[in-house]
Amino acid sequence: MFEYNAPNNLLENKVILVTGAGDGIGRAAALTYAAHGATVILVGKTTEKLENVYDEIEAAGGPKPAIVPLNLETATEHDYIDLTNILDNEFGHIDGLLHNASLLGVRTPIESYDPIIWQQVMQVNINAPFILTQTLMPLLHRSENASIIFTSSGVGRKGRAYWGAYSVSKFATEGLMQVMADEVENTANIRVNCINPGATRTKMRAYAYPGEQPETNPEPASIMPLYLYLMGSDSNDLNGQSLNAQ
Ligand SMILES: NC(=O)c1ccc[n+]([C@@H]2O[C@H](COP(=O)([O-])OP(=O)(O)OC[C@H]3O[C@@H](n4cnc5c(N)ncnc54)[C@H](OP(=O)(O)O)[C@@H]3O)[C@@H](O)[C@H]2O)c1
Repeated sequence: MFEYNAPNNLLENKVILVTGAGDGIGRAAALTYAAHGATVILVGKTTEKLENVYDEIEAAGGPKPAIVPLNLETATEHDYIDLTNILDNEFGHIDGLLHNASLLGVRTPIESYDPIIWQQVMQVNINAPFILTQTLMPLLHRSENASIIFTSSGVGRKGRAYWGAYSVSKFATEGLMQVMADEVENTANIRVNCINPGATRTKMRAYAYPGEQPETNPEPASIMPLYLYLMGSDSNDLNGQSLNAQ
């Protein structure tokens, strides 16, 4: 496991957007960031799940979060502009952007991969993070120190049979991170990095490995040290890196 002991106030006064914040790793990240002082913008598909996370943050005494239901598969340019305007009016800037939401798609050979599912996976996993990042850049530039984190996977570093669009989208994620990191290299206030969570006990993992005992993998909450490190000021000088949470 990546080792990092975050001070309780690591993210005080920071505004951090998390996609896929209603479930799995994104939920854990939203709760963890709020517990370390951040105002978290909860973005995701299922409103009820976001509301549950909102309630958990409030019950724990964290800063009041914001909920933005957004389906990354169907969102239009307009939706992203609306989101940016809302955040601009409410906060004026954002300090952190965790691209976490993803679709697994199907596990099948390329030869028989359904092109419609291919498009859906690419839309959610790589096109949406590109558009969201681009639209939010003006708000990120206004932060003293902004951190953009993409989420990759082992199959985004080495292709593996039957992982289809998911694997290819994660290669693209690593590429997008590297291109952006190089572009902001001389910008003092923005850094861009990537996390590979490793096998983690979530619905996606259970869907990908139906025969596996879920208990063999760590819970999302236990892989949070790297998520905190990359969001907080101790990583201000780190840019263009792809790190393992485990
Ligand atoms: N778990 C692992 O072992 C593992 C390993 C390597 C990489 N990862 C990566 O880690 C990240 C989190 O995965 P996870 O395991 O936590 O997955 P998960 O439990 O399936 O959660 C995925 C999240 O993404 C959201 N999402 C899916 N489609 C969306 C859409 N169209 N619009 C908006 N939100 C959408 C889901 O929202 P709803 O619940 O509302 O649908 C959910 O909150 C992903 O990027 C994944 O590729 C995970």
